[in-house]
Amino acid sequence: MGSEPKLSVLFTRDEIEATVNRLAAEIRRDYLTKHPILIAVLKGSFMFLADLIRRLDFPLEVEFVRLSSYGRGKESSGKIKLAQRPQAKVKGRHVLVIEDIIDTGLTAGFLLDYLGKKKPASLKLCVLTDKPARRQTPVNIDYRGLTVPDKFIVGYGLDWDERFRHLPDIYVMENEG
Ligand code: IMP
Ligand code: MG
Repeated sequence: MGSEPKLSVLFTRDEIEATVNRLAAEIRRDYLTKHPILIAVLKGSFMFLADLIRRLDFPLEVEFVRLSSYGRGKESSGKIKLAQRPQAKVKGRHVLVIEDIIDTGLTAGFLLDYLGKKKPASLKLCVLTDKPARRQTPVNIDYRGLTVPDKFIVGYGLDWDERFRHLPDIYVMENEG
């Protein structure tokens, strides 16, 4: 490993906050009386989830799943496994999946497929960031936050090799360090 990665701001905390507010309003409108289960994908979506649900003033439940797709570095291994399943029963429930980013779409595709087989009453996807340039499989995004260029981003939950998750803004990583 060489020098430190160079980070440049892509979205400020204010832009992120405005986006989370907008998504929360859309979700509130659709789920107010539905008592949904929000299934957040670890680890990247933890900060987004925490900010989002503080703006949702109606009954809901939170679950976490963990999928393994990324190894070290920036490229997906392509193989996806469910490393942690949701604990609540999904059958007959309104399920909203919360993701940090849709890149190739393979992870979200795998998870939506898995959850769909459990016969939820409804199944939708909310993502903070969307990187459409790298899509390998089509993904229907019901609530979309910010569209990002074909660059590797970090901060606000998103990591590079477990680093930079804690940063309050979102950055483009200019080099690999
Ligand atoms: P996908 O299966 O290629 O859509 O990748 C989804 C997962 O890859 C995300 O949940 C992230 O954990 C990770 N990922 C994809 N792109 C980025 C990025 O630009 N920064 C950080 N993590 C990323
Ligand atoms: Mg993720």
